[in-house]
Amino acid sequence: MENSKNLEVFQAKIDAEIKIEPKDWMPDEYRQHLIRQMSQHAHSEVIGMQPEGNWITRSPSLRARKILMAKVQDEGGHGLYLYCATETLGVTREQLIQWLHEGKAKYASVFNYPSPTWADMGAIGWLVDGAAIVNQVSLQRTSYGPYSRAMVRICKEESFHQRQGYEIMATLMEGTAEQKKMAQEAFERWWWPSLMMFGPHDGDSPRSSNAMKWKIKRETNDDLRQQFIDKTIPQAELIGLKIPDANYKLLENGSYETSDIDWDEFWNVIKGNGPCNTQRIKQHAAAHDNGQWVREAAIAYNEKKEQQLKSA
Ligand code: 3HC
Repeated sequence: MENSKNLEVFQAKIDAEIKIEPKDWMPDEYRQHLIRQMSQHAHSEVIGMQPEGNWITRSPSLRARKILMAKVQDEGGHGLYLYCATETLGVTREQLIQWLHEGKAKYASVFNYPSPTWADMGAIGWLVDGAAIVNQVSLQRTSYGPYSRAMVRICKEESFHQRQGYEIMATLMEGTAEQKKMAQEAFERWWWPSLMMFGPHDGDSPRSSNAMKWKIKRETNDDLRQQFIDKTIPQAELIGLKIPDANYKLLENGSYETSDIDWDEFWNVIKGNGPCNTQRIKQHAAAHDNGQWVREAAIAYNEKKEQQLKSA
């Protein structure tokens, strides 16, 4: 079928809420948009393991260490689902990793901030995973089949991540004055970077129009951000945290009005000038190089197994 007919069939499937599968015809622009977004999502999951991984050996109890280890392992698994889903679009894992190391692919700017105290583990789980849940629950309805199914699987684990973070914050807020101060300071470090996770305002989001047309995104950046704000402010107030925004206010419709994000900081961190950008990529590249022998061994093992099966 010529392209215009293909395009008609493609958009009709999108409009009829029929998932687009790897073997289906799709416009190259749709394919490239998905490769970009899904690989950046996968990179975010894996890079996001760094700020938390630093605290596994420094957790305040065996229970806390077990929970944090489980969470960090989950994030590695989320990265795996998303890399595998991205590979169905005809791009190799090696290529995706190379684009990340070359700075041609992004990851969530939120992970370019340091995690100096144990309270940051609480704030990351509660706020960063909390924001990710809002975004990912919506992405479960994305039009690309493998991405949608990866989201369904990931969302099942994210609620544990958010809840364990909130438990850390609630526990600290019932503690000593010093622990309360540590929790409040962590909240102030992670509140605004978590709001940035939803991307630029709708009017400034160059990707959103195609993303909405192709039902890659099902809700806009600002709508999702507002859902997160409306859910999170009451949680903060419930445990006695002070919202790090002097201008926030509860509106009659039950939603909250807040100050605007510092978009200069947003774009500056995305451009590579955040507190931890260099360290995060350096650590990722070193871990990737150190893991070369594991990948080679796994490939050799699989090839041997395949030969044995063929000759059986
Ligand atoms: N961090 C880094 N880059 C960001 C960003 C952020 N918070 N928000 C936007 N950007 C980038 C976009 O990637 C885009 O750049 P590009 O064209 O080079 O890719 C540019 O800024 C313009 O933004 P747009 O809104 O036009 O781009 P999108 O339509 O792609 O929207 C998005 C950005 C909301 C991040 C969207 O890509 C998305 O929903 N991605 C999937 C979700 C995701 O990646 N979440 C990461 C969270 S990490 C995580 O979930 C781990 C959890 O376990 C804690």
